[in-house]
Amino acid sequence: MTFSYVTYSTDDDKIATVVINRPDAMNAFNSEVVAELQECFDDIHDNEAIRAVILTGAGKTSFVAGADIKEMTDLNSVEARDFARRGQTLTNTIQYLGKPVIAAVNGYALGGGCELALACHMRFASSNAIFGQPEVGLGIIPGWGGTQRLARLVGPAKATELIISGNRIDAATAQNIGLVNDIFNQEDLLAETREFLTTVLNQGPKAVELSLEAINRGMDLPLSEGLNLEANLFGLAFSTQDSREGTRAFIQKRKPEFSGE
Ligand code: CAA
Repeated sequence: MTFSYVTYSTDDDKIATVVINRPDAMNAFNSEVVAELQECFDDIHDNEAIRAVILTGAGKTSFVAGADIKEMTDLNSVEARDFARRGQTLTNTIQYLGKPVIAAVNGYALGGGCELALACHMRFASSNAIFGQPEVGLGIIPGWGGTQRLARLVGPAKATELIISGNRIDAATAQNIGLVNDIFNQEDLLAETREFLTTVLNQGPKAVELSLEAINRGMDLPLSEGLNLEANLFGLAFSTQDSREGTRAFIQKRKPEFSGE
């Protein structure tokens, strides 16, 4: 696939790397970037050979500096709502992709950039990464899920603090509040992310997919319904060949050979 602002490569190891590349605007999202990312993740969804994704920004300064402010400035309210919905469709596609997506946050993750990272299943950050929801300083609010996903991830008090102040936080602070899983040197970020995903790919593929579904669908449900979902998916896991293979391999003291079925 060839795009103007997104590169998308897959290696033999079944991990796709998606890079947002708009260097003259700190990788900010204009409409084309959003459309290209949507096409890219739709393709990844349908491509059975891809089992995990790394999402990052080109360069060493910025992951994504948010929505393109120059493009947004003259939107009317209907157009702005449409823009929010397109961003939410993209972030929902990522959250419910069924394959682990890790944001490798290599610099500024502001506004829609932070919201994009929030939709990923985990966030690894370079030590120079900066997170923030600066929308209130522009007289607007987050529109790509920031008010919802940030509050669910770090709790309403911290989310409120970040959103109503517009304050930026560094990688260490982001890790302290649970926004970031781990921090690496810039030059090690992609390799460390890939290494983690390699560990994930050694697990039962269907079990990983069902775990993502239980966590991500369950987050939207009251606890009793989430537990019900978990019990159902736990049951479903026992219908897979991988569950037979994984449990037998343990008993036979050997490494499992998962087929993904
Ligand atoms: N939109 C459009 N252009 C942007 C941009 C954005 N979000 N962020 C950076 N750029 C452009 C700058 O305009 C500048 O372009 P020119 O050279 O043509 O002037 C270029 O990128 C480099 O930026 P700076 O000169 O500002 O670089 P810096 O190192 O001084 O600062 C920065 C970097 C802190 C990221 C700063 O650019 C910044 O604050 N950007 C805006 C961040 C922001 O407010 N994001 C939220 C957008 S709203 C949103 O995302 C809504 C939503 O929920 C979807």
